[in-house]
Amino acid sequence: MRRPLLIGNWKMNMTLGEGEEFVRRLAGEDLGHGEGIDLVICPPFTLLPPLAARLAPTPLMLGAQNMHWEKEGAYTGEISGLMLREWGVRYVLVGHSERRSYFGETDEYVGRKATAAFALGLLPVVCVGESGEERRAAKTEEVIRRQLLAAIELLATEEERRRLIVAYEPVWAIGTGMAARASDAAAVIASIRALLHQRWGDLAKEVRILYGGSVTPENIADFTGKPGIDGALAGNSSLKPASFAAMARALSREGRG
Ligand code: PGA
Repeated sequence: MRRPLLIGNWKMNMTLGEGEEFVRRLAGEDLGHGEGIDLVICPPFTLLPPLAARLAPTPLMLGAQNMHWEKEGAYTGEISGLMLREWGVRYVLVGHSERRSYFGETDEYVGRKATAAFALGLLPVVCVGESGEERRAAKTEEVIRRQLLAAIELLATEEERRRLIVAYEPVWAIGTGMAARASDAAAVIASIRALLHQRWGDLAKEVRILYGGSVTPENIADFTGKPGIDGALAGNSSLKPASFAAMARALSREGRG
């Protein structure tokens, strides 16, 4: 059974004081029944150690927004999966479209990061998605296929394959307030699962696939109500405790796990 999953991606937002305030206020919010779903926040690196202790008594788990594929070495400005583990991080986003477009992250890097994450006991959330231009040129399927195959190429064990998490995030929907139509997102997600099935057979049924791109408390259930969509990756609306909690409650109601 695939456990529904909500991930909040804080991006480059929140000072220490703001992050602590978020956790404090979230404690007063109703998160739904909670046990059947996984809730994750991905704060900036600087907040991981201080928030780890504060999140311990809550159902929230910690994720990171990025990592390097090597454990250590001469990579100025980078953070390794080993370091993330030490901070209590469980999940890590790899290949977010902002990493790809602003920082030149290639499909090959994404594949290395996903593999390294598993090797260090982290769960990678591989982000894929087409740009507006690619969508208009009817290249969505081609782009997703290329990004996904590069990311999963090196995942060799059954355990890694079944624990993989994919986030379908159309680039044109991120931060624009223009979410994809739920039926369109469900169709792309079905094609992602079909591709995984071609490669891995029935293990594809266990892979969690999320939708991301302008998800809000108001629209989340449109997505997670579709049978193949296992949760959401939310940016803007994960920054406010009340809206994060409202999304968690909506996901709890959909909870199939
Ligand atoms: P958004 O961001 O919810 O603000 O569109 C989503 C993301 O980038 O993961």
